[in-house]
Amino acid sequence: MPEPPRPFRVERYEIGAARDGRAVALAPMTTSAADVLGAATVAIGPWAHYGFDAARMAAGLKSTSDAAVRYQIECGGALAGAVVIFCPWLSGPYLQLLAVIPPHQGQGIGARVLAWYETEARGHFRNLWLCVSGFNTDAQRFYRAHGFECAATLDGLIREGDDELLMRKRIEP
Ligand SMILES: CC(C)(COP(=O)(O)OP(=O)(O)OC[C@H]1O[C@@H](n2cnc3c(N)ncnc32)[C@H](O)[C@@H]1OP(=O)(O)O)[C@@H](O)C(=O)NCCC(=O)NCCS
Repeated sequence: MPEPPRPFRVERYEIGAARDGRAVALAPMTTSAADVLGAATVAIGPWAHYGFDAARMAAGLKSTSDAAVRYQIECGGALAGAVVIFCPWLSGPYLQLLAVIPPHQGQGIGARVLAWYETEARGHFRNLWLCVSGFNTDAQRFYRAHGFECAATLDGLIREGDDELLMRKRIEP
């Protein structure tokens, strides 16, 4: 049987539709999108909590100096968020960043991204990995609803007094 194509390629993926029917796609991160998404992500979720800097976040989204692949999320052609994946990580890929920016949250885009994350890895790996902050109970509920379970608590990983949960989903080899 032929090998499935290498996962998490630097190319455009059409990944389905949001709840309102608009097409959702992942595309390799552009410089201009990184500037917009850098500013938008530091205003929300764990990045706001930890006081991330917009310029450094944008620089991280543009970086090509590591093994991560970086995508902009598009919904109906509009910028809707960002995804960063390291693969391989630990017998599977690691979702280092998933951010859906506020006007686009709650429309099923995050669910589409997680389904794509699993589909890409299936046939190559036994595990999917991600981290979520202990205080981010909404995101934890979202990941649990998609089959992720807490594999370890990493206390003080980013800042003393804050825990990060390492979450894992087992997938069929
Ligand atoms: C968590 C997140 C990725 C989910 O993506 P999404 O496109 O909003 O998710 P979906 O529309 O597919 O699913 C919505 C579910 O996510 C959860 N959720 C978490 N944070 C949410 C938010 N700010 N707004 C809406 N839903 C949110 C809800 O539990 C919701 O569940 P429900 O449908 O049972 O009500 C996205 O809301 C987000 O980026 N939030 C802020 C940043 C963050 O916390 N990222 C995760 C870091 S590990």
